Amino acid sequence: MCGIIGFTGKLEAQEILLEGLEKLEYRGYDSAGIAYFKENGSISIRKTAGKVKDLRAICDENTATCGIGHTRWATHGGVTNANAHPHKCGNVALIHNGIIENYHELVATYDLEKDLISETDTEVAAALFNKFYDGENPIAAIQKVVPLLKGSFAFCIIFKNNPDMIYAVRNVSPMVAATCKDGSFIASDLTAFIQYSKKYFIVPEYAILTMSKEGISLQELDGTPIEPEFLEVNWDITAAQKDGYPTFMLKEINEQPAAITRTIAPRIHNGLPDFSADNIPESLFENCHDITIIACGTAMYAGMVGKTLIQDFLGIPVTVAIASEFRYEKPVITEDSLVIVVSQSGETIDTLEALRLAKTKTAKTLAIVNVKGSSIARESNYVLYTHAGPEIAVASTKAYTVQTAAFYLIACKLGLVQNKLTKTEALEFIQNLQNVSDNIAEILKLSANIEELTKRMLNATDTFFIGRGLDYTLSMEGALKLKEISYIHAEAYAAGELKHGTIALISEGVPVIALATQGHVYSKVISNIREVKARGAYVILLSMEENVTDASICDVHIPLPKVPDQFAIFEAVVVLQMIAYYTSTGKGLNADQPRNLAKSVTVE
Ligand code: F6R
Repeated sequence: MCGIIGFTGKLEAQEILLEGLEKLEYRGYDSAGIAYFKENGSISIRKTAGKVKDLRAICDENTATCGIGHTRWATHGGVTNANAHPHKCGNVALIHNGIIENYHELVATYDLEKDLISETDTEVAAALFNKFYDGENPIAAIQKVVPLLKGSFAFCIIFKNNPDMIYAVRNVSPMVAATCKDGSFIASDLTAFIQYSKKYFIVPEYAILTMSKEGISLQELDGTPIEPEFLEVNWDITAAQKDGYPTFMLKEINEQPAAITRTIAPRIHNGLPDFSADNIPESLFENCHDITIIACGTAMYAGMVGKTLIQDFLGIPVTVAIASEFRYEKPVITEDSLVIVVSQSGETIDTLEALRLAKTKTAKTLAIVNVKGSSIARESNYVLYTHAGPEIAVASTKAYTVQTAAFYLIACKLGLVQNKLTKTEALEFIQNLQNVSDNIAEILKLSANIEELTKRMLNATDTFFIGRGLDYTLSMEGALKLKEISYIHAEAYAAGELKHGTIALISEGVPVIALATQGHVYSKVISNIREVKARGAYVILLSMEENVTDASICDVHIPLPKVPDQFAIFEAVVVLQMIAYYTSTGKGLNADQPRNLAKSVTVE
């Protein structure tokens, strides 16, 4: 949700900002802009509705060495040049990620209406900083303004008369910073500046960061100095590049075998799950009578797999909660409940707030998170990092499979700790999990066939994904993936539920993607498929049968490598991801940057 970057140092700033924005564009791509100090100390702004390439086209040549840049995902006010960031008011220019919830009150209380030309909450903040800025002391202005703001914010601010200095402050919305021989950097996430520094720190909430050419300083709002806590990433810039693939999404689909191995291998010792290096104690699993999994979107669908697996396999009751609902409910969890939050970014605001609420009820919170040091990882009692590497495409793929793999490790650990699995069963289970990467590699070889079959989907307006048990949980993810990047309406249904209403929507040629990998319900699903086939559906069937030639069942059959039923979802989901991907590209769409979306949803 909005990408921000700032640089001050020895190098020319404009290219650093533009390249950084290109890397942050997955966070929002409605409009983009930069502000920099000119040689005479005045502030220059370039901004436009559109993408970073449109911004690049309107930038002039300059040698400025200090500036800030923004790529927007619109919340308040439409996609217009005026609403693009940076916003300048008097002696202040700033960029913002977040939402200032009390901006109407601020306008009225501080008589700011006359200063505003856009429809954004951000410009109100710029006007407020300007009002409290005496022309000399930015810190004093920040100290006065920040307590007045309600909502989430990450601001980078430049003040006239303080050339080459950037000031930053945040609440909730993420911001990381680094300092190195070339200068000081700040951004929403470190992909924006990782080629300059692999060491970075998370800007603490409500701290004021001052960036100058010489380095950075950090202080509490009251002026007390703070030492930044530096972290180091274990991936480099190549992980955040397309590496020869036409899109990040295709690259990330293909990275799944390696990502799964990276995630599970360090947690397997002597063939059994072991979380000791993660500092996750066995006691977390010993007394847990029930589990609540909380997440949003694809991460929640990974949680649905976790639920079905753990409940069916171990008989432990599991609830999956949509984070945006959970955070406003009265949760029925006790101190013995295990709460698992799942998030690729670790910054999704609803998941973070849901975690905070859960922590008021139980100290057994475990986060499955991809981004190291992110808010959810920091605030959870325990964290199990997935090692997908940076996920840049807006539609999540590799993050989902590694989250799912993490649930398989957790299920096995729970089973062992609670004596619901024998050591022999656990060893076999983990062996099957270790085979998943190779099986996915086989599936990836089908890409040309899948691309071919999606030609049939390009003109579809409605599609259905059906399955039972684990296949049903997967159907939800398959449907979400298709709709978000191809804009084709897709619905997931438990196969047996269709005849209770939805089957009325099946007519000649409507694509139905049917999953039939679960042996105990195989014949039931096949009956349900026959029901839709009889009404004219165009059925694409995924199953572990070598051959399905019966035309009364399907039009196209995609055979998956034979594995134990519990593990078939890993292969099947990759097929679903490719169906979505090739349908999107077949329609000429940008799969990496679907309309209206942005990665990392840090606003409600
Ligand atoms: C869909 C997708 C989203 C995210 C959701 C949660 O492809 O990516 O549904 O899964 O916004 O994001 P994280 O995992 O960062 O909390």
